Amino acid sequence: MDPKELYRKAVETMPKAYAPFSNFTVGAALLTRDGRVITGVNVENSSLGATICAERTAFVKAISEGERDFEAIAVCCNDGTAWPCGICRQFMLEFGEDLTVIAGPDEDNLTVTTLKELLPHGFRLEKGEL
Ligand code: THU
Repeated sequence: MDPKELYRKAVETMPKAYAPFSNFTVGAALLTRDGRVITGVNVENSSLGATICAERTAFVKAISEGERDFEAIAVCCNDGTAWPCGICRQFMLEFGEDLTVIAGPDEDNLTVTTLKELLPHGFRLEKGEL
């Protein structure tokens, strides 16, 4: 799928964000390897640390629906460019460093990179190590 097309799906979902504290709304659109798009928004909480970012919302929705293979994620926000935060980078790494990450202030100014670029030498635990 074209990066612009995926980014548009992030833009479409962004109004569903629940961001009454920061007024910073974020939308994410996650593309699975078999072509499904799962969206997410940021959901804030009075206990601010309980807030979840749009990227993790999309991943949690997708994983809980049985998806495991992801190709790309597009992220937009209502003020400039939102690159995935450090927690989201680590969270997404669990499911593969080759994920394409698309971000930018609008569909004509997108940067397309990979999670590997955004989080080099990311932490991985061997499965069954604990
Ligand atoms: N946020 C996201 O949803 N994704 C990001 O990549 C950066 C930050 C949200 C969390 C919080 O609701 C607001 O943006 C301000 O940090």
